[in-house]
Amino acid sequence: WVRIVTGQTPTNIAVIKYWGKRDENLILPINDSISVTLDPNHLCTTTTVAVSPAFDKDRMWLNGKEISLAGDRFQNCLREIRKRATDVEEEEKGIKIAKKDWENLHVHIASYNNFPTAAGLASSAAGLACLVFSLARLMNVKEDQGQLSAIARQGSGSACRSLYGGFVKWIMGKSEDGSDSFAVQVTDEKHWDDLVILIAVVSSQQKETSSTSGMRESVETSLLLKHRAQEIVPKRILQMEEAIKNKDFPSFARLTCADSNQFHATCLDTTPPIFYMNDTSHKIISIVEKWNRAETTPQVAYTFDAGPNAVLIARDRKAATQLLQRMLYYFPPGADADLNSFVVGDKSI
Ligand code: DP6
Repeated sequence: WVRIVTGQTPTNIAVIKYWGKRDENLILPINDSISVTLDPNHLCTTTTVAVSPAFDKDRMWLNGKEISLAGDRFQNCLREIRKRATDVEEEEKGIKIAKKDWENLHVHIASYNNFPTAAGLASSAAGLACLVFSLARLMNVKEDQGQLSAIARQGSGSACRSLYGGFVKWIMGKSEDGSDSFAVQVTDEKHWDDLVILIAVVSSQQKETSSTSGMRESVETSLLLKHRAQEIVPKRILQMEEAIKNKDFPSFARLTCADSNQFHATCLDTTPPIFYMNDTSHKIISIVEKWNRAETTPQVAYTFDAGPNAVLIARDRKAATQLLQRMLYYFPPGADADLNSFVVGDKSI
């Protein structure tokens, strides 16, 4: 017999960034972070997991190519899920798995991303969250979303925020074992559905410095990061939660842009400095800043993760349409265009 489960998990984009760990192995952050989960129809990972007595080892395929499961992060997630596995019975298929059997059973995992992996579009977040979610269902794990998010966190920090829709907060926690470091939903996906998220793909190439090593170097060398984590982010988290709850776009945009810029400033403050944005990214920032200042109230917020691609959050459909028109004007399409394409991260446009 074979038991099969499929899950789908969208990616998330941080509006208050996670950058820096206090524990590398358990993946515990130095500050809280807040993200928005994208629409599952657009940027997401689909993962099918299967178990059968015929499988002789754990194996995984990513976008059709077999990859190694040897890394600590995969192994930590697998172990934590296996520990919590419970009895499974599917009478019509003749499947009966007792809790103790799971230790000796192997899984096959097939995962697909519908967007470029490692292009700074947070594919690891969706991937690891989906892996944990699908395995938990396969093994009939009874833990709630919060506890599953703490397991996904051990795969990739930002993954813990992808187990919920809407706006999500990753609480950094204080304990050394990481038991209080997990994600909670701030508001659900229906709360602020005027927002339209567009991603301007500046480059779909793999980034030079991974988030994991970049943040390690920043923790080791940047004084600005220390100040940010201790003094700035705690206040910003409270203000951001207020802005989201009140659907206060001017405050939301101000905080989102400021936090993205400060995150990239900590990258510059790292020795040796890390450059994630390029000239096209900077041009996009100038266009948005200029436009927002020309209006009575801001129309668009921008944020950049560990790569040059811009995530643009428009206050509504009208602003999103105008944004696209502006982008086409400043970046005319053509063979040597600076902007490759737009990915719509939201169903409303
Ligand atoms: C800039 O979650 O990819 O996107 O925990 O080492 O796997 P690891 O790092 P990762 O870092 C994401 C960094 C970020 C900001 C964010 O998503 O909060």
